[in-house]
Amino acid sequence: MRTQVCIIGGGPSGLLLSQLLHRAGIDTVVVEQRTRDYVLSRIRAGVLERGLCNLLRKAGVGERMDREGLVHDGTLIAAAGRQFRISFKDRVNDSVVVYGQTEVTRDLYAARDAMGGLVIHEAEGVTLHGVDTDHPHVTYRKDGTEHRIDCDWIAGCDGFHGVSRKTIPDTVRTEHEKVYPFGWLGILSETPPVNHELIYANHARGFALCSMRNPALSRYYVQTPLDDTVEAWSDDRFWDELRRRIPAESAEALVTGPSIEKSIAPLRSFICEPMRWGRLFLVGDAAHIVPPTGAKGLNLAASDVHYLHLALEAFYLHNAPGEVDLYSERALARVWKASRFSWWMTSTLHRFPDQTDFDQRLQEAELAYLEQSEAAQTALAENYVGLPY
Ligand code: APR
Ligand code: PHB
Repeated sequence: MRTQVCIIGGGPSGLLLSQLLHRAGIDTVVVEQRTRDYVLSRIRAGVLERGLCNLLRKAGVGERMDREGLVHDGTLIAAAGRQFRISFKDRVNDSVVVYGQTEVTRDLYAARDAMGGLVIHEAEGVTLHGVDTDHPHVTYRKDGTEHRIDCDWIAGCDGFHGVSRKTIPDTVRTEHEKVYPFGWLGILSETPPVNHELIYANHARGFALCSMRNPALSRYYVQTPLDDTVEAWSDDRFWDELRRRIPAESAEALVTGPSIEKSIAPLRSFICEPMRWGRLFLVGDAAHIVPPTGAKGLNLAASDVHYLHLALEAFYLHNAPGEVDLYSERALARVWKASRFSWWMTSTLHRFPDQTDFDQRLQEAELAYLEQSEAAQTALAENYVGLPY
């Protein structure tokens, strides 16, 4: 088989890139190791920046998001028993859309099907060849048969544990990592959200977050030690701890119910440089991971896709082959800024194991300053709604 761009990974990055390139007349094949059902079973955050919303609309995939997505003009921050609101609308005249990543992925798959886009599932042993030549190819096994895809370019959209990043030689690749000494225990419950906007809560017992998927499906998190387990957390224990970490006015309004999903996720910051080697580009989680505190994971995948699809269109359609040489630098500039913001949100809102009471008071002072300062709120708002592409 031959294609112009072979895309490794059928998550949001790979599907959005494939859809945008296909609509521009550029041929792609997506090679995904899992089944579609498995990909769609993943529970992931869904706070969409304007840039991602516009990209989905450009890809012809924005209709259900525009119909069902929840527009959020602000967020609540809680500390020292109080909560205050930061208005994205007042500070930066912008907003975000809350729409689950699973739904984004579902819409992308539907669009791929509608255009007859080729997504190969259950591809085993995907291997990249000749990446440092002008004629790369990809091999994989399916149903016991070895397959080969010759292509001009390979987009590594295969996530943090994928094969693409590791194809870049150690002598070329630099990996920057910061592992946080705690995790997030998250639950889904078929209950109305405690507030129509999100609540990010700092507390001496640890961070908590009140979020949602829709008006009847809530998503809550509490920070847990790294060695904690889901089995140690009954629903009752979770609800009691969440109530202790959010201000009384919200704790009293909390509607609880049985969890329909419960899991613990670690937090890390990770960035691979460069995001391009030869004919291979890294996109999304394959290149970078951010702690979920700033809700930037999916949104950084989107800005990578934005830069790359324009570079490939320039290469194929506008006789401007030099644009692909600027992809890595452009993408990384935004990745580092979003990683800084995610690190700042994580450092200001979480309780660190070695943290002293003085440290806790410094965090509370930072949040008290945020409450009173329009300048500080504007800085948070412009990062949260998404820096320009
Ligand atoms: N071969 C083929 N496919 C692979 C391989 C491989 N060797 N390794 C991983 N994959 C697939 C995974 O099964 C997954 O479906 O690549 C896809 C990568 O998808 P994501 O991990 O969702 O990464 P990405 O598409 O960049 O989306 C980033 O997803 O993980 C969240 O928080 C993250 O919101 C962010 C978004
Ligand atoms: C979520 O709804 O899962 C969510 C929202 C905002 C975040 C992280 C997770 O910052």
